Amino acid sequence: MNITPKNIHFGAAYYPEHWSEDQWHEDIRLMKEAHFTVVRMGEFAWSTFEPVENEFNLGWMDRAINLLAENGIATVMGTPTAAPPAWLTQKYPDTLAVDQDGKKREHGRRCHYCVNSPKYHELTRRIVKHMAEYFGPNTHIIGWQFDNEYSTVCYCDTCREKFQQYLMGKFESLDDLNNHWTTAYWSQTYTSWDQIPIPKTGHNPGLMLAFQQFVSHSYREYQKIQINELRPHLSEEVWVTHNFMKWYPTYDHYELSADLDIASWDWYVGSGHNDYTESGAAHDLVRGFKQRNFWVMETQPANVNWAPISNQVNKGESRAMAWHAIGHGADAVLYWQWRSALNGQEQYHGTLIDQSGQPRPFYEEAAQIGSELSKVSGLLVDSQVTAKVAILNDYNSRWSLDWSRQHQDFDYVKHLLHYYKPLAARNIPVDIISADSVLAKKYRVVIAPALVILTPERIKNLTEFVEKGGTLILTIRSCMKDEFNSLLPMRQPGPLSKITNIEVEEYYPLETPVTVIGNMIKNGTSRLWAERLRIIEEGKLSNPVARYGSHNGWLDGQIAINVNLCERGMVYYVGAFLDEFAQARMLEYICNISRVKPVLETPKGVEVCSRVTSEGKEVLIVINHQSYEQKIMIPWVAHDFLSGYSGKGQVKLGPYGVVVLMQE
Ligand code: GLA
Ligand code: ZN
Repeated sequence: MNITPKNIHFGAAYYPEHWSEDQWHEDIRLMKEAHFTVVRMGEFAWSTFEPVENEFNLGWMDRAINLLAENGIATVMGTPTAAPPAWLTQKYPDTLAVDQDGKKREHGRRCHYCVNSPKYHELTRRIVKHMAEYFGPNTHIIGWQFDNEYSTVCYCDTCREKFQQYLMGKFESLDDLNNHWTTAYWSQTYTSWDQIPIPKTGHNPGLMLAFQQFVSHSYREYQKIQINELRPHLSEEVWVTHNFMKWYPTYDHYELSADLDIASWDWYVGSGHNDYTESGAAHDLVRGFKQRNFWVMETQPANVNWAPISNQVNKGESRAMAWHAIGHGADAVLYWQWRSALNGQEQYHGTLIDQSGQPRPFYEEAAQIGSELSKVSGLLVDSQVTAKVAILNDYNSRWSLDWSRQHQDFDYVKHLLHYYKPLAARNIPVDIISADSVLAKKYRVVIAPALVILTPERIKNLTEFVEKGGTLILTIRSCMKDEFNSLLPMRQPGPLSKITNIEVEEYYPLETPVTVIGNMIKNGTSRLWAERLRIIEEGKLSNPVARYGSHNGWLDGQIAINVNLCERGMVYYVGAFLDEFAQARMLEYICNISRVKPVLETPKGVEVCSRVTSEGKEVLIVINHQSYEQKIMIPWVAHDFLSGYSGKGQVKLGPYGVVVLMQE
């Protein structure tokens, strides 16, 4: 059998090193029966690949890859660097990361290496080089994953020195650094680079931001070491990726993605059930890392082992989740993991095959998903999600605000989701992309939630977007700082006031909500936060669309939301953190006047995603995320690729039901 690299892939993480080779046959037979097209292997196998320093044992993996390929299953190969062997950390203890409190990490866990350790770099180069030479030419390997879920921040002396060197490259001089960080504050002034510490919680905001950027830089450099060893051994169509963790805060995912071919992520619900408006945002975020389709490299086979309640999602729910991922641009869904290892830390995690080697009840659902994906793979391969609305995401702004919340309940990601969710609930496709992306002409509406950090490029980019006819929404906590996390010497929204024609006179973290009144939102409230806006130049095309009711005196009757017509576009400044209902009304209003329409109107809990094929045909993936039956209306004759039926009008969707439609 041949493997098909171009596919909507389906599979799981597989660890053949946990089992004797004669057991692989039955595993692979069951994989094939479940319509697997891919497995991911190798990502924690360093101690099996290199049992003794500089002695390599890779043949077993070759046999596994070949056996899988004989059964039509491709391989994604992981580099094993998230789990160094015991001999390594024993002989070279400086490769271990040091925590904030000065404690060294210990062997037996994961991601416990120092990302800047020269020795770890050398040993990484060696293992990756061996794997690259050995496996690189193997055509059954369609892609590679580096490491696993980068996550650790190291506070060791090597990292501190490297951080100081990094700062030397970033600033013209120490004076320049002192100036940008206002270090005269509390006598922080540095007279020598080696005085600069690795900041811990509560340090100078300029230093904190620079260190966080250094963490991104360190992982990027570390990843480049692996890319440089591997890439020369791969043919062009073999891609490289890393498995990210949705909103994980520690590094700038756009920077790390820049050197990858595709992005991928690990999707876990944990306790409870899937909230599709939230997971949709995570998929859209990851699609935005490269602005192209992505992989769900891991997801739970019904349950995890680490949540407060590691319940199984309902029967059928995983199927809805798989289709939801595909609907948002996933080109693959892989479960973690295939089979329960008899020991090791994750004995109770969900799998497809239990400790006895038999398929679990969930296996049957997985096999159904596999069979359905294989049916539509040809149709969906190369199709894309196309969105007219973009939400801008910025790690620098997020870090900056995380350290200065001003209200304990203000959270950058939650605030971003507050803009995303009402759109998702109405089936409006959204791109979540870097705040530094090109916007003009691509989008009708761009939302920049809490974009506190403004750079000259952003000013130019956003202004151009508006001038060319776009609708821009700026929100609370916008445009107050420069790229050094320094306050701009002007009121919000800084130089963007040219296009908003308002300035923020004052900002108010709120103990209790304040009413917000205006035609667009009717009556609503602002919670957590309120900004008092002032029109700069009366008589221009500015319109206060909502004002605050009586509250603390400071806000009474003041402007809460303003719209300004600017060249061919318009700019909303939303100074309120609206309640859910008012927020939904506001976004519906703004989408309507900006000619942004839902893919299809559906009852609550039924999602419609759209993927457009390379021939320009639209495929609608309709998912009932509820455990009860729902009905939708299709206004044209449609064909369902899953059931094979064609028709028009009412479509019944059973609990977690899915149809994949195209207009006939
Ligand atoms: C992470 C890891 C996997 C596994 C799962 C368990 O995402 O990447 O190796 O530990 O969690 O949920
Ligand atoms: Zn370190």
